[in-house]
Amino acid sequence: METTFIFVKPDGVQRGLVGQILTRFERKGLQVVGAKMIKVDEELAGKHYAEHEGKPFYPGLIKFVTSSPIMAFAIRGVDAVTVCRKVIGATNGRNAEPGTIRGDLGMSGSYNLIHGSDSIESANRELALWFPEGVIEYDKSSNFWTYDASDRG
Ligand code: RTP
Ligand code: MG
Repeated sequence: METTFIFVKPDGVQRGLVGQILTRFERKGLQVVGAKMIKVDEELAGKHYAEHEGKPFYPGLIKFVTSSPIMAFAIRGVDAVTVCRKVIGATNGRNAEPGTIRGDLGMSGSYNLIHGSDSIESANRELALWFPEGVIEYDKSSNFWTYDASDRG
């Protein structure tokens, strides 16, 4: 099992899409192991997007994610990092495939509704940053019917 980090960005919260977005992950079979609403400050936004510092879009990105509350989630499942990125879709909603969150719900490359960790290393770094208190450990009984024995390893 992997645990990854996602957050619904200010546009998703303001457009009232948090429920629909979370449903995408739940119905896929993933387990929510952390959830909270945060009004992100510049320090947290800067640490989260440190890899993009210095790029032309960076100031606008920081302004956007600090402009209004976000909803952060820790999501667990087999290959959760890759699976969540597939569920989210390509960065720009106009290029993203139908069936993905960005492909179905978005029309922008910056107001793109949701973030998802891009690797296991990023997920671990981001989870430590956003959920320093740790995630919620509990058994999800439906995992028995979500994964077969070989999936579970
Ligand atoms: P995210 O980190 O937010 O999940 O998005 P991502 O992996 O799909 O895209 P990434 O390359 O990490 O970029 C982070 C966010 O910066 C904005 N961006 N703008 N104008 C541009 O060329 C550009 N490139 C990236 C987007 O809002 C993107 O989500
Ligand atoms: Mg990214």
